[in-house]
Amino acid sequence: MKVFITGGSGFIGSHLADRLLARGDEVLVIDNFATCRRDNLKAHPKLKIVEDSICNEKLMNQLMQEFKPDLVVHAAASYKDPNNWVEDALTNVMGTAIVCQAMAKADIKRIIYFQTALCYGLKPVEQPVTLNHPILPRGSSYAISKTAAEDYVQLSGLDFVTFRLANAYGPRNISGPLPTFFKRLTTNQKCFVMDTRRDFVYIDDMIDCIMHAVDGKGNGTYHLSSGSDISIKELFDATTKALNMHFVVEVKPRQPDDVFSILLDPSRTKNEFGWKAHIPLVEGVSKTIQYYNEQGIEETFTHLKEVK
Ligand SMILES: NC(=O)c1ccc[n+]([C@@H]2O[C@H](COP(=O)([O-])OP(=O)(O)OC[C@H]3O[C@@H](n4cnc5c(N)ncnc54)[C@H](O)[C@@H]3O)[C@@H](O)[C@H]2O)c1
Repeated sequence: MKVFITGGSGFIGSHLADRLLARGDEVLVIDNFATCRRDNLKAHPKLKIVEDSICNEKLMNQLMQEFKPDLVVHAAASYKDPNNWVEDALTNVMGTAIVCQAMAKADIKRIIYFQTALCYGLKPVEQPVTLNHPILPRGSSYAISKTAAEDYVQLSGLDFVTFRLANAYGPRNISGPLPTFFKRLTTNQKCFVMDTRRDFVYIDDMIDCIMHAVDGKGNGTYHLSSGSDISIKELFDATTKALNMHFVVEVKPRQPDDVFSILLDPSRTKNEFGWKAHIPLVEGVSKTIQYYNEQGIEETFTHLKEVK
């Protein structure tokens, strides 16, 4: 297959690229390296990386026409500065519109998109959240722009799968709680956790699921989640265990713009793809910490406002 991955040097995109290359597929990546390490992807004869933005419409049209992928996996997204609404709108909204329209012009029919669970709002009205939950993204620039982008994907007339994701974690993940814990714990900085719960899926499980969609399964909206949540304190404790440290952590009450729990119902994904997450948290955290120990962490990113 020929697969065009936007944001393909990022956490999810690069793991997907590795999986595709390992089975002999050809991969084209566009990335502006806003939130990823440049060494996530290694040189490979069937991999081409273009350093540019998906907002470069002329280039996107050219890449679609020349590469003629069987499908596009659209993983590029802006989120690193919660106050930079312009960059979020440019990359997430305009960039997605450009991706979809460049695909249509080049007669490329299938797109896979990744949506944030924050599209259900800061306080989801049901647990677990089903696919019928109202869409209420107003709480953050990231959620607003990712939701407008998902709307464009649906409007495009393309054959699409949009995965609404639980929290992904694993090697190369430099956003969210786990890399932050590692960085702080290994540099003797103060640590605390929020009184919140999340649904975590290890990256290998996540890629297994995405591969079903790459290979043509599914049409429409799916939850990519384990269906069970853990407290952030449990995640912290798994991290200290993997680091062989003893640390009693302070649990802080959550901020007004933080969601207590995000538990997504993965029934449709299980039924149609025959997929479920199976890698236990302790195993996934241990592999992730091993990666951080070997590679270090240069930078971490979050779409959440900083908590003092
Ligand atoms: N990781 C998660 O837990 C999670 C949860 C919900 C949704 N998502 C979505 O999944 C997708 C992949 O996320 P990820 O975790 O791999 O994040 P990531 O930051 O590692 O990957 C996103 C990539 O997009 C690139 N990028 C940003 N702006 C760009 C632009 N204008 N042009 C080209 N490339 C650009 C970044 O440099 C980065 O490599 C994103 O769409 C994200 O919104 C991720």
